[in-house]
Amino acid sequence: MTATARTPAKINLALKVGPLRPDGFHSLATVYQAVSLYDEVRAHPAARGQFTVAVTGEGAGVVPLDDGNLAIRAAKLLAKKYGVTEGVDLHINKTIAVAGGLAGGSTDAAGALVACNELWGVGASREDLLGFAALLGSDVPFCLVGGNAIGTGRGEITSPVLARGSYEWVLAYSDRGLSTPSVFATFEELSGDVVDEPEVPADLMTALRSGDPYQVGQCLTNDLAESAIRLCPSINQTLEVGEECGALGAIVSGSGPTCIFLAGDDAHAIDIAVALASSGTCRTVQRATGPVGGARLITG
Ligand code: C5P
Repeated sequence: MTATARTPAKINLALKVGPLRPDGFHSLATVYQAVSLYDEVRAHPAARGQFTVAVTGEGAGVVPLDDGNLAIRAAKLLAKKYGVTEGVDLHINKTIAVAGGLAGGSTDAAGALVACNELWGVGASREDLLGFAALLGSDVPFCLVGGNAIGTGRGEITSPVLARGSYEWVLAYSDRGLSTPSVFATFEELSGDVVDEPEVPADLMTALRSGDPYQVGQCLTNDLAESAIRLCPSINQTLEVGEECGALGAIVSGSGPTCIFLAGDDAHAIDIAVALASSGTCRTVQRATGPVGGARLITG
């Protein structure tokens, strides 16, 4: 028997960063959206104590295969919580950029929780899984939940957003990744001592309720953008290309360096994607729609 989960990328429509907390994390107020780019996490039974991961697809060569891999940590955590003695061989097929600000590693952990829960038949409830997800990383709970959600705390406390509409996105991958801790460290350097407690922008919430992509595009905001650009200046050129094509919104995703562009419709998304792909300012361009659901079991 094997169990396979399909698990989405996330983007941040708003990412407001607050003060550094005593635990080393920053308080956040963010609005997440899950988008239709998926990794697949397949769990195969393995001998007692054996936990392995193999990775194929986008960025496979740079994904850690030891305990640095969040999916392995997720499987070990679930086994420990339920006293499972078997091991697991995970196979991750990636579509989502590694170190791209799209929660690629976090979503693989969410997928591993869902797949191992099924493989081992331990019957963890959704609430249980959300609790384990929060122990693994700030974005992992949202990757289970999907849709549109507000994230508070360090990002791990999610609550649903009243939202309408489906949104057409174009994503531009950089030829390099950015480490999330170094982007937050740069944020610390740039922001100085006084940082206010973050709040979810009211204008974005109104725009999401209206379902109007023009309004939503105007409200995209990311406090980490300046830090990501400091570490990866080519982001500026990528953003300019999308803006010149009339993107309704253009912003760095999460801690970057992936840039996201909101299109008015399908034809507009094609125009933006073609312009970005031929601009030489980014490595790969992908299209996605959102919101989509969170990590789910699939058959096959
Ligand atoms: O929670 P996650 O493992 O994704 O976080 C990775 C790193 O990003 C943390 O170790 C921390 O340096 C930084 N971070 C932060 N504040 C957050 C989330 C992440 O400083 N709210």
